[in-house]
Formats: sequence, C-alpha cells, structure tokens
Amino acid sequence: MKRKKFSDFRSDTVTKPTEEMREAMARAVVGDDVLGDDPTVKKLERLAAKTIGKESAIFVPSGTMGNTLSLMVAGEKGTEIILEEKSHIYNYESGNLSKFVGLIPRPIPSENGEMPIEKIKENIKVSLRMHIPRTSMIALENTHNYHGGNVLSLKYIEEISKIARENNLHLHLDGARVFNAATYLDVDVKEITKHFDSVMFCLSKGLCSPIGSIVAGKRKFIEKVKFWRKSFGGGMRQVGILAAAGIISIEKMTKRLKEDHKRARMLAEGIANYNGINVNLENVKTNFVMVDLVEMDAFTFLEKLKEHGVLALPFSDKRVRFVTHNDIDDEDVFRGVEAIRKVLE
Ligand SMILES: Cc1ncc(COP(=O)(O)O)c(C=O)c1O
Repeated sequence: MKRKKFSDFRSDTVTKPTEEMREAMARAVVGDDVLGDDPTVKKLERLAAKTIGKESAIFVPSGTMGNTLSLMVAGEKGTEIILEEKSHIYNYESGNLSKFVGLIPRPIPSENGEMPIEKIKENIKVSLRMHIPRTSMIALENTHNYHGGNVLSLKYIEEISKIARENNLHLHLDGARVFNAATYLDVDVKEITKHFDSVMFCLSKGLCSPIGSIVAGKRKFIEKVKFWRKSFGGGMRQVGILAAAGIISIEKMTKRLKEDHKRARMLAEGIANYNGINVNLENVKTNFVMVDLVEMDAFTFLEKLKEHGVLALPFSDKRVRFVTHNDIDDEDVFRGVEAIRKVLE
C-alpha cells in the first residue's frame, strides 16, 4: 500500500470526515435552520443535549464562538471570570473576552490545569463597595490543551462546582475535548458535565466532523445563545449537511477515542529513552504527547522531522506537541518514533 506523504501529528483538528460522514452529509435532509426548518440540525441538537445531560443544545460554527457566546450570556459585563492562566479562553481566542464579552479575566496559575482550590476561594470577590467588580463566573478546561491534554479529576470538578454554587457563580466548561476526558476516566461524559451550568464541546477535533461545536445548558440559556449566535453571523441555513456529520461524531467517534490514547502512549513510550529529549510519561493521559527538547530548538527539530514525512506543532522554543487522532494509525506511530530517532542522531 502506498504510504501517505505526511504522518500529521499537528492536531486532532486535521482529521478528515470519515466515508460514513461523507455519505450522511450527501444524503442529509435539510432546511433553513435560521427559520427553524432543518430536521438534521434539530436531531443533532437533541442528541447533543441528551448525551451531555442538559436541557438544550445548539450547533455553532466553532469552539471559539461557542465559548464566546456562552460567556456573553452567562457573564455580566464588568464582572470577573476566574480561569486558568494558560487556558484557551484566556490565551488563544483572539482576545474575545475583552473584545466582545467584557468580562475581566482573573487568571490563576496551575501546574496541570487544576487551579489550586485555595487560590480560587481567595480570588472570589463579592462586591461590597461600588468600585470593586464582583466575580460572576468560573471557567474550567477539560482536557487542558496547554497542559498536554491533562484530565481534571472528578473530585476536583465536584469541589469547584460546590464553590461555584455556594458563591452563586456560573460554572462554564471549555470541553473542546471533554469526550477524551471521559474516555480517560472511563465514565459517562455526564459524570463530568453534570457539574457545569454550560458546556462547549467540539465536533471538529478528535470527533472528525469537518466543522462545528455544541453549546449545551438550560433551555433559557441556549435561547439567549441562539440570539447572540445570529448577532455574530453564526446563523446558518441548510446546515444539516454539517449536522449529519456531527451526529456520527457523537454516536460513533466518541467511542473510539481510546485508540488515540493508546497510540499517544505508544509514541511516548517509543521515544521516552531517546537522548536529547524529555517526555514525561505520567503526563500522557489522552491524545497529546509533549516533547521537551534538551538542546535543539523546536523550529529546527520540526523542519528536520518534516524531511522524514512527520509533522508536529511547536509549543514553545523547546517544546513540541504531537497529537494522535483518527487519521493516525500504528504505521504512523512507528514512522514518528523512527523519524524522531533519526532527527536526534
Ligand atoms: C481547549 C480548546 N478550547 C477551544 C478551542 C477552540 O476551538 P475552535 O478551533 O473550533 O475555535 C480549542 C481549539 O483548539 C481548544 O483546544
């Protein structure tokens, strides 16, 4: 069989829709979704709400839009949101928190994506005087992108949810990869999502849909998200074509993520003893492998790796990230292990 040109470990966003998705997309019954006429979108939204364990759900074009809309609806302008210092919402969403949402970020550093409980408590502000903005929200990220796909423990989430309830704060989950977290913990995803007031998750990453994310929460909340989605130009017409793929993402692709986790581990174990890099095997929990370079810089390493047909992404000058997904098989992993060996030689 002809080997593909590149084994692409850059991200799980590079996944192509499966053949089954392409067929479902071609056959999808569609209508104008802005007018509420698209039965395939309705089916996806019902399925998503049921799967996540919320009253209602809405299909949105991207994870960034899903997070932004959730925060716009839940937060009150000029109040504070507590979130992890390296979180996607704070660092990688084009400054939307300030540009559109109007919440004041209160970032808290952490080792692994779990902000220390005591630090969260210390930073919750009740506005006793009019010049002090109060806290209105907490956002968590699970799995945590920057922290190597780390999974927050259920005990931790439970504790944060208790604090949020006691302080009347909205708790939002950036669950772009929440099904990877559920797979790692070997629990139904609802065991994670039940603690949150709103949840965003992506269909277009490890779940292989070409486009799309979901926001789920209470019916009233989702109605408001729908209003803001239209304002942002995210009201889409015959979008059942995309929803048809999303249905397969939820019904089928969520069930295969353990394969990606197994391959991430294979890759990590295959390279862990190489000189010139460090890989912390304990941190390889889901589909990410973070590789720290001892001497070579990330740019040179990735250029050389590309010559061997392997792609990955730089995370910093000395750190690169490999991600496994549906379009990475065992052969790709062996190729990756071998290519890294050659580059380090
Ligand atoms: C944790 C996390 N949240 C949100 C997003 C945003 O998703 P999108 O690229 O669909 O806007 C990403 C994308 O990589 C992510 O990793």
